[in-house]
Amino acid sequence: MTQDTLLVHASHPEEGTRWWRDAVIYQVYVRSFADSDGDGVGDLPGVRSRLPYLAGLGVDALWLTPFYVSPMADFGYDVADYRDVDPLFGTLADARGLIADAHAHGLRIIVDVVPNHTSDRHAWFRAAVAAPAGSPERARYIFRDGRGPDGAEPPNDWESVFGGPAWTRLPDGQWYLHLFAPEQPDLDWENPEVRAEFADILTFWLDLGVDGFRVDVAHGMAKAPGLPDVGHPNQVEMLGTAVLPYFDQDAVHDIHREWRRLLDSYGGERIAVAEAWAPTPQRLAHYTRPDELHQAFNFHYLTAPWDAAPLREVIEESIRTAAEVGAPATWVLSNHDVKRHVTRYGGGETGLRRARAAALLTLALPGSSYVYQGEELGLPEVLDLPEEFQQDPQRLRGEGAGRDGCRVPLPWEGEEPPFGFGAGPASWLPIPTGWRDLTVAAQSADPGSMLALYREALRLRREHPALGDGGLRWESAPPGTLVFVRESGGRRLGCAVNTGGGTVRLPARGTPLLASGPVRLEGGHLDLPPDTALWWDVEEG
Ligand code: NOJ
Repeated sequence: MTQDTLLVHASHPEEGTRWWRDAVIYQVYVRSFADSDGDGVGDLPGVRSRLPYLAGLGVDALWLTPFYVSPMADFGYDVADYRDVDPLFGTLADARGLIADAHAHGLRIIVDVVPNHTSDRHAWFRAAVAAPAGSPERARYIFRDGRGPDGAEPPNDWESVFGGPAWTRLPDGQWYLHLFAPEQPDLDWENPEVRAEFADILTFWLDLGVDGFRVDVAHGMAKAPGLPDVGHPNQVEMLGTAVLPYFDQDAVHDIHREWRRLLDSYGGERIAVAEAWAPTPQRLAHYTRPDELHQAFNFHYLTAPWDAAPLREVIEESIRTAAEVGAPATWVLSNHDVKRHVTRYGGGETGLRRARAAALLTLALPGSSYVYQGEELGLPEVLDLPEEFQQDPQRLRGEGAGRDGCRVPLPWEGEEPPFGFGAGPASWLPIPTGWRDLTVAAQSADPGSMLALYREALRLRREHPALGDGGLRWESAPPGTLVFVRESGGRRLGCAVNTGGGTVRLPARGTPLLASGPVRLEGGHLDLPPDTALWWDVEEG
């Protein structure tokens, strides 16, 4: 094989294990994970009861989506009290117990923090609505007078990510900004009171023992001075491809630096990961400069098609740009906001086969990986949810298909819905009856299942010295195919992935470790069928 690129990670000169540089972090969408009290909605005691499953799966940390007090206009991303648990999800004592039990299982806990906006039911926003224009209560949010002779036009042309104008008018005539739903008013981060409040909220959770934060809309808190017009309609199509006056403004980095200082003042390597949509991998890497956050989600990888050339391009660029700032690259295939990747990659048998191969590709890449609950079961997007169940504000406000289909509760066991999700008769979104073959119990009994593949891949990832943090060496490969070698501790692991339409023959020698489908490695050759990946222990020769 010929070597054609060598990419090596730079790393921070910090003390400690730097666990986050190659951690596998499992996203728990709390509402849909496990329901302890039979009300059809997942909760913290439910997560707690399933910790043995998560520890057995072999992940390092859990990211819990928001479980704070919320009217649930955006399923918890509209927070009314940042220091308490919504009764739907449990109590503060449950959160404490979950953190302690997770630690006892060797799992770290990352919680979501939602700093760009509060709920409209937050005490601050209620006070702002009750107070007059120009008051200190309104100064915590972004209130402006409207345009036009009677102020009846919004203050500028900004659009909500969920569709429609990003401004709503109060009866007294002033408008407030909400980049998401009207129930999610944006805070004004130029106000020192807002900064102080969030430092205090982070402190509250750090003192409770969390290991870090996933920062919601980490690219949104700073707005361009003077709130200038964008000058274009359909701004949602520009998200992640252009700098907008309300996203990815340079001033947002001051906030992240402040937070990093706070995290570093705690022991135990507490981390933060940015949910940031930036137009280029270079701009995304800014969020992970040494004095900012530890990681940023890699949506460029998530949105890449199942095709070797664009995948390689995004992998190389992600590793290079992360290395430039000394950060680990991160990899993610699915989350609670996007169509599940089994379906994105073609659905059915094809989608499943590709998702199996994608799991091996993703988990072999240098850096940290995210696993969205249910991807280890190969769950597809539920495309035919009955109308009356669809509740996502994104869909209700007309922007896109809605995110309910990737949030359907997990099937745990049994023959009928809700498949052990909870003790009650139903779950908040119905689980398809066809998922009886996809339950954790069914897949645990099947060595050929997706769950078995993830368990084995995660076990190898922990044990094999070449996996995790480090460098990657590309090998030459036919079109449609990716081949690279990871090397560390005197061991070399090869990863080959065929995204093309026919079986390819590659030169390779060594011992197969894990394959996503049927492959043959013998006589110095690897025969790799379409949509299949292999890990092997490389033997030179
Ligand atoms: C990103 C979250 O992942 C999404 O679910 C939410 O709707 C928006 N941020 C607004 O908070």
